[in-house]
Amino acid sequence: MDEVVITAEQINGKITELAKEIDAEYADREPLLVGVLKGAVMFMSDLARQLERPSTMEFMAVSSYGSATTSSGVVRILKDLDRDIAGQHVLIVEDIIDSGLTLSWLLKNLAARHPASIEIVTLLRKPDAVKVEVPVKYVGFDIANEFVVGYGLDYAERYRDLPYIGRLRPSVYGG
Ligand code: XMP
Ligand code: MG
Repeated sequence: MDEVVITAEQINGKITELAKEIDAEYADREPLLVGVLKGAVMFMSDLARQLERPSTMEFMAVSSYGSATTSSGVVRILKDLDRDIAGQHVLIVEDIIDSGLTLSWLLKNLAARHPASIEIVTLLRKPDAVKVEVPVKYVGFDIANEFVVGYGLDYAERYRDLPYIGRLRPSVYGG
């Protein structure tokens, strides 16, 4: 680990802001939070606890074919939702949008299941890496186009447990 990019305090403050917005938007409907494993686990758990309104949770695991640090847009479902989301107000909870390829695929896949509404909240976004524009309603932080770890984000399954977001030395992943 090289350097802290976003501190635990900054993450916490941002989630408070996002939770306020989401509470206001979902004042008369209960969101079904759909977390994308494993990266979104920390964010989803903190977000759900900061929402004042009740929500329910589902998880999905997808894998994009490609190397560890780049995404190909070809997605495979490793774990599907446990229930039907037809008629539900789905809020997809993502850790990070890089190229947007994974999320663009996921959005289409979930939208085809006839939810009453579907929106996206992501903690991080890399605007300079975008290949497909995905309509994201709530964004925590826009960050530079460099590999980050921590707070759910991994490199080779490590660093997910860090309470902050940090930049990984390129030498660690052969950059
Ligand atoms: P795309 O490019 O499809 O990628 O938007 C989204 C997924 O790629 C992973 N990803 C990262 N993981 N640090 C990570 O630990 C990063 O900087 C990073 N950028 C992309 C992540 O799994 C995300 O859901
Ligand atoms: Mg990953």
